[in-house]
Amino acid sequence: MSNIDYSDKIPNNVNLSNDRTLQRALEHWQPRFLDWWREMGPNDFASVDVYLRTAVGVDAQGWAHYGTVKMPDYRWGIFLADPIANRTIGFGDSFGQPVWQQVPGEFRSQFRRLIVTQGDTEPASVEQQHRLGHTCPSLYDLRNLFQINVEEGRHLWAMVYILHAYFGRDGREEAEELLARHSGDVDKPRILGTFNEPIEDWLSFFCFCYFTDRDGKFQLKSLAESSFDPLARTCRFMLTEEAHHMFVGETGLGRIVRRTLEVMKEIGSDDPEAIRRRGAVDLPLLQRYLNYWFSSSLDLFGSEVSSNAATTFASGIKGRPDETTQYQDHVCADSTFESDVPDGRGGVTKDTSPMRNAMNEVLRDAYIKDCEIGLKRWNMQIKRSGHNFELKLPSNRFRRAIGAWANIPTDLEGRPIGREEYERRMPGWLPSASDRGYVNSLMQRVVEPGKMAAWIAPPDRGINNLPVDYEYVRVN
Ligand SMILES: [Fe+2]
Ligand SMILES: [Fe+2]
Repeated sequence: MSNIDYSDKIPNNVNLSNDRTLQRALEHWQPRFLDWWREMGPNDFASVDVYLRTAVGVDAQGWAHYGTVKMPDYRWGIFLADPIANRTIGFGDSFGQPVWQQVPGEFRSQFRRLIVTQGDTEPASVEQQHRLGHTCPSLYDLRNLFQINVEEGRHLWAMVYILHAYFGRDGREEAEELLARHSGDVDKPRILGTFNEPIEDWLSFFCFCYFTDRDGKFQLKSLAESSFDPLARTCRFMLTEEAHHMFVGETGLGRIVRRTLEVMKEIGSDDPEAIRRRGAVDLPLLQRYLNYWFSSSLDLFGSEVSSNAATTFASGIKGRPDETTQYQDHVCADSTFESDVPDGRGGVTKDTSPMRNAMNEVLRDAYIKDCEIGLKRWNMQIKRSGHNFELKLPSNRFRRAIGAWANIPTDLEGRPIGREEYERRMPGWLPSASDRGYVNSLMQRVVEPGKMAAWIAPPDRGINNLPVDYEYVRVN
């Protein structure tokens, strides 16, 4: 079961050839996907050889094969993690009952919306990163960008398979729409805000991988708990690929910090201007990028209190990450959740809601904890170099556009402040036009094997045990 059939037009481990109607429908969608890839993907690099990994199985060991591929020839396919025998529903009102192999009619539209929203983020990110290849800081990084791009393309396939296989005509129409919306498009934007933000430089790219792909990890982890077993299995396998995206974000930002510390040591100063004269990223600048992408990504979890979250949990549609191992009460019928909300008079008050209604917030809290891990690591680096600068995540109330704190001006610590003070202090909190201008000036393409741009340190090791100076992309 684990092995994937690569002789099919669409590689898969779901016995696609046994369902001719579905196979034909997906084969009909395939050329549209390729058109989209050519138009919206990293099309300027269509003819270059890239050292990529491709899934060849879904078991924990040896699921990936590495080799040189031209991106349009990447074998995008449909891979589900192996089924867990006798799996039962892990949470909500139907706790303990057998999982579903089909979507129950009454939950159809909720499932469809969740799958479409998840599916929409995958091609969106490819569109956002469309031009980054031209300014890569090294061949190693260029390869990682392309690896992420092809895998986000595969994640789109993962969601499109579920739509086609289980949602009939509605599903097929949604699959078309996934190729029709575009990131940042005025008429047909992507569904979620963050996925319409441009990613024009590699500092933003690494922040996106660190913060926004991590939102993806948490969404996939909660869908991996779903009672609808095919969706759970799809998401479980997607998580295997997703881990690399967060690795790219975390190590990318860590390498920027390392390079900055080297420069600070060389010049014996932490003066941002002096650091910039040496072409590195000063830490306050990095902090402003973190503030921007973290606060934007927090909104992806939705409102703190949500009747929709309560329904999806109660009906077994979407659980919590690691539901079985992380929580004792899987039903949450009587428990409550306390959160801080604005009191309407410029202060903060406590609000208690039923636990089920607070599931978005539970998920967001788990996400924030996970985001802290990288910061701890980077702060250790900074401390070891003898500096007392500390990178911090802003409060989850800062710059929110969704939920209880939407449009409530606060400082980075989450203290409510006046609108005027908020506007005045904003240039110190988020990347200013001159910050962005400076970062853009650093974006010069480096494509000599093993060489790195001046603003980023080399990685500790290469891909798949190859040396760092391996020619991961043959750009010439
Ligand atoms: Fe993805
Ligand atoms: Fe991703």
